[in-house]
Amino acid sequence: MRLLILGTAAGGGVPQWNCACAGCAAARSEPSLRRRHASIAVEAGEGRWYVVNATPDIGEQIEACAALHPGPERRATPIAGVILTDAELDHTLGIPRLREASGLRIVSTGAVRAALSGGLRLDRVLAPYAGLSWTTLPEKDLEALDGGPLEVQGIPVSGKRPRYAADLDEPSGDAWVVALRVRDRRDGKVVVYAPALAGWPGALDRALRDADCVFVDGTFWDDEEPVRSGFTEKTSTQMGHLPITGRNGTAERLAALPAERRFYTHLNNTNRLVHADDPGHRRLAETGLEVAREGALIEL
Ligand code: MLT
Ligand code: MN
Ligand code: ZN
Repeated sequence: MRLLILGTAAGGGVPQWNCACAGCAAARSEPSLRRRHASIAVEAGEGRWYVVNATPDIGEQIEACAALHPGPERRATPIAGVILTDAELDHTLGIPRLREASGLRIVSTGAVRAALSGGLRLDRVLAPYAGLSWTTLPEKDLEALDGGPLEVQGIPVSGKRPRYAADLDEPSGDAWVVALRVRDRRDGKVVVYAPALAGWPGALDRALRDADCVFVDGTFWDDEEPVRSGFTEKTSTQMGHLPITGRNGTAERLAALPAERRFYTHLNNTNRLVHADDPGHRRLAETGLEVAREGALIEL
């Protein structure tokens, strides 16, 4: 199985356009500290890739990865479609950026589709450009994706709706936020991608134990970070993101998993890990945990 890490930041990116915090200021003066919005690509066959979450940076993310460049025919693209873990704006605003396509395949839960169609009205807005074709992401078990070698499943991990979808009806029982599980039938390798975790349900734990590579919510270092930073009165957990350390921290559970690679991703600009020399990196590395690095190709 082959994966590309396209971005590693939470909503806003690093630096965020209207933020002068220490993390954003550092990234303005040192380009190597910049982070694009969190996303990966998963290879579905020779020269075919699914992008997981379509971020506001998707154009630059495609340009930064030769494997995602078009060709050899003028309008041939290796991007087979987009798989969504949720309907948050940082994971979906890239869809209209792909409107030059003749059509776009989107794989998501019913609730996410309802938010994008009914809340953002993406079907209507994009119809004159690129028709969206929807595939339901199965929640109960892995199912083959478009007859190719990948099997996918969305494991519900949060009931948090995007703010713009607060009043929408949705199909009952459908998940707003999932951890994406992908199995490659060619080699049996499994990746779990979970950039937003409000909890650690049993089904997620079982999937993580069975995975070769995992990406987990690293938005905040500790639960009080958002309150301390002064941009909200909610803790990390209340915002739908289990923190890395301390109360509700995920680091010990992540370190106990047998996966070959265990990454944190979706870092907020307030997270101390955006500073390359922060001792938090060493602390995580001591238990085999990594902070995802943009541009990396992961071969499992
Ligand atoms: C989140 O990760 O909690 C959301 O992306 C927040 C947002 O961007 O509104
Ligand atoms: Mn986010
Ligand atoms: Zn900032």
